[in-house]
Amino acid sequence: MSASKQQYQSGFANEFATEALPGVLPEGQNSPQRVAHGLYAEQLSGTAFTAPRHSNRRSWLYRIRPAAMHHPFEAMPPGRFHNRFGDAPATPNQLRWDPWPLPSEPTDFIDGLVTLAGNGSAADQSGVGIHIYAANRSMQGRFFYDADGELLIVPQLGRLRLATELGVIELEPLEIAVIPRGVRFRVELLDESARGYVCENFGAMLRLPDLGPLGSNGLANPRDFLTPVAAYEDVEGQFELIAKFQGELWRAAIDHSPLDVVGWHGNYAPYKYDLRRFNTIGSISYDHPDPSIFLVLHAPSDTPGVSNMDFVIFPPRWLVAQHTFRPPWFHRNIASEFMGLITGAYDAKAEGFVPGGASLHNCMSGHGPDAATFEKASTADLSKPDVITGTMAFMFETRRVIHPTRQALEAPQLQGNYYECWQGIRKHFTGG
Ligand SMILES: [Fe+2]
Repeated sequence: MSASKQQYQSGFANEFATEALPGVLPEGQNSPQRVAHGLYAEQLSGTAFTAPRHSNRRSWLYRIRPAAMHHPFEAMPPGRFHNRFGDAPATPNQLRWDPWPLPSEPTDFIDGLVTLAGNGSAADQSGVGIHIYAANRSMQGRFFYDADGELLIVPQLGRLRLATELGVIELEPLEIAVIPRGVRFRVELLDESARGYVCENFGAMLRLPDLGPLGSNGLANPRDFLTPVAAYEDVEGQFELIAKFQGELWRAAIDHSPLDVVGWHGNYAPYKYDLRRFNTIGSISYDHPDPSIFLVLHAPSDTPGVSNMDFVIFPPRWLVAQHTFRPPWFHRNIASEFMGLITGAYDAKAEGFVPGGASLHNCMSGHGPDAATFEKASTADLSKPDVITGTMAFMFETRRVIHPTRQALEAPQLQGNYYECWQGIRKHFTGG
C-alpha cells in the first residue's frame, strides 16, 4: 500500500505525470524494453487514436501485472443496474420521486445501484444511463469497471473513497467525481451509509464548456478539477472483477488487486470537482437567463451546440433582476431534464422535491414553478435581492427523450400526485 495521504494534481485533462515510487516513469519514451521496478507498460485509450489533438485522451500505466490477467468473464443474472431503457413506455407525464430508501441488508455500491432512466445505448456510444445508489458497506474483495461509459458520481449522502487504478479520490456531498470509461475501481464508504446519483455517459467524454462572451474565466474553473496522484496496491487473493459491458454485468475471478498501477502519465484519468467552487453568473439587469448559464460539464454530440448530456447545477446565488419573475419560469424544451437535489430547497418548488429525490420532465412536457411559488414570486418585493443559500440542485439534461425504467415507474417512491402542484394555479386573466 502507498499514498495514504490524499494528494491531487490540479487542472482539467492536463498531461499529468505521477509515480508512487521514484524512477517508474520512463524518460523520453512510453514503452521501453524493460520498465523500472519490473513493471509492465500499458496504454489506456479513451478516444480514437486519431482523435484531434485537443480532444485526444489516453494514459500510459506502469503496473505490477497487465490488465489482461484475469479469468474468463461470466454473465451475472440481470439485476437493478442495467441499460434496459425500453422495458416500459416512455411517458410525457411529469414525474417525481421521493428519496430512494437506504438498504437494510448489507449492500455495497455496485449492489446498491438502481437504474432509474436513460436513453441511447452503449453500442451507439450515444445517450446516458441515469442511476441512483444507496449503500451501507464498502466493496469488499471486488473491483468494477464500466466499458459502456464514463461515470459522473454525484453524492447526496455520505462520503466515498474511490480507490482507482490511477489513484484515490475522497469524495463528499457537494463534490462530484468522474471515473473514465474502463478505469477499474473500488468504492469504500467513509460513513455509515451513502446515497447519490450517477450519470453514465455513453457519448463523448465530459468536457468544460466554451465560455464565449463570458471571457476566459467563470463557471467551473479548470484549476479546481483535481486528479489523484498514483497509488497502488500489491495484494494477492481471491477477488472478483465486475465489468459492465453492453448494458449488463459480467464477473471474472482475479487473483490480485487490479489497482496495481505504480506510476502513470497522460490525460485520461479520474477527477473530482467541488461544486461550491462554481463561479455562478446570472442577470444583473432583468429576466432569468437560460439554465445553460449554470453549465458545469457537457458531453458534446455530433451536432454543434447540441449536447449528448449537460450537467447543470443550481447553486447558492443572489437574485437581483428587476421587473422580473425571479424563479425559473414556465417552460417546455426540446431537451429532456432529469433533476436531483443534493441539499436544501429548490427555488421553483415549495415542497415535494427533497434531497435525495428526483424529477423527470421530458421533451415538450410543460413544467415550472408550482402554484405556491408562482403566487409568492409574482408579488415579491423586487427592491431587495433574494439570497438563495444552503442549496444545491442539479440537472442531467439530454438531447434525447429520457425513458424511465419499469422499476422506476413501479417504485413506491414515485409520487402519484406530482401533477397536482400545478392544479392550484389560478386564472388571473381579466378579459380584453
Ligand atoms: Fe426545466
